[in-house]
Amino acid sequence: MLKGKHIILGITGGIAAYKCATLTRLLVKAGAEVQVIMTPNAKQFIQPLTLSTLSGKPVISEFFTANTGQWNSHVDLGLWADALVIAPATASTIGKMANGVADNMLVTTYLSAKAPVFVAPSMDLDMMRHPSTLRNLELLRSYGNHIIEPTAGELASHLIGKGRMEEPENIVKVLDNFFKVNEDLKDKRVLITAGPTVEKIDPVRYISNFSSGKMGFALAEECASRGAQVTLVAGPVSLKTENAGIRRIDVTTALEMHEAVMNELPDSDAVILCAAVADYRVEHIADKKIKREKTENPVIQLTPNPDIARSVGQSKRPGQVTVGFALETDNENVNAQGKLERKNLNFIVMNSMRDKNAGFQVDTNKVTIFTDKGETIEGECKSKRDVAHDIIDVLHKYLDQQ
Ligand code: C5P
Repeated sequence: MLKGKHIILGITGGIAAYKCATLTRLLVKAGAEVQVIMTPNAKQFIQPLTLSTLSGKPVISEFFTANTGQWNSHVDLGLWADALVIAPATASTIGKMANGVADNMLVTTYLSAKAPVFVAPSMDLDMMRHPSTLRNLELLRSYGNHIIEPTAGELASHLIGKGRMEEPENIVKVLDNFFKVNEDLKDKRVLITAGPTVEKIDPVRYISNFSSGKMGFALAEECASRGAQVTLVAGPVSLKTENAGIRRIDVTTALEMHEAVMNELPDSDAVILCAAVADYRVEHIADKKIKREKTENPVIQLTPNPDIARSVGQSKRPGQVTVGFALETDNENVNAQGKLERKNLNFIVMNSMRDKNAGFQVDTNKVTIFTDKGETIEGECKSKRDVAHDIIDVLHKYLDQQ
């Protein structure tokens, strides 16, 4: 499971740093690419040369490489990483991470990293049980970091207690398990639509809606981080995709989105229709700007756009799972369930305009899922990424049954 994974191994100044030679060796043996970052104090405990030899990459420690003057970008490193492992993590580094004290390359990279973070503390027993350390570890947990608990035994000080860094073999196991659990969509091909569509009226005006694309992009990131091959058909949005596993097709109009989706459909195991597609387009787009003086009460003739979800529902092959969205202002449940049937979906995710902090533009959402098996799953108000996680859990169950 670690094959091809990009791991940043952050080493800080504790005696357990000597175990990082073995840890690096084991990670490389498991197929990972390892980039070591050392704090200045870590170099007192183990030679960078040992680690650069084992990892096959120069060790990074400073913001600049002294002999070349090359700038080491913590942002690029943070984006490159699939996981950041800080082992051993001293009380000092844990405190800096907890409080955003970015005075070295490692903590700066930590603050930039989007990847999951694993922290393997190592220190003397009294430092380990000091309220400050315990509080800082609690803060790291609250940031979503994974703490690899130290074990009890004889410490470098000859005292006996909790504070020994977990053995390298076990740290590798923790990482391996993490990626195993999180790759539950491995090799699945998921097609997602996101954002609004834009329908031109004339060269300067258009009809559209308030969709920001945030929910669809969160779904794409969630699927990609769980190992899926994602194709994201996006209407005009100002969002970026972060995971390299996402293939993005940018479109503008509903017709373009329809065409892109129908082209990709045969190769997809699952299709999530999250886009807010304009139901109508302008029948005759003016080739010049419509002048106010010329038309007092202008009438724009509209014509229906294809319902992409319906086309997908009609041509879906056995085993393909399709998911729709319904944004409703009233009669929510009945409307959403009607769409579930009409569009031949496996499940539909409904959000109501009546719920605060849900729907267009905002970073949170509150959804109810209706399935074709008659289940209703009510969600809490959560970040769109957490809502995406819950939706993809339901999708995963469907894909598993195919
Ligand atoms: O009918 P309504 O637009 O409310 O249905 C919403 C669902 O249908 C969403 O999943 C949306 O992405 C999809 N849809 C579509 N093409 C349209 C209209 C809606 O795929 N033209």
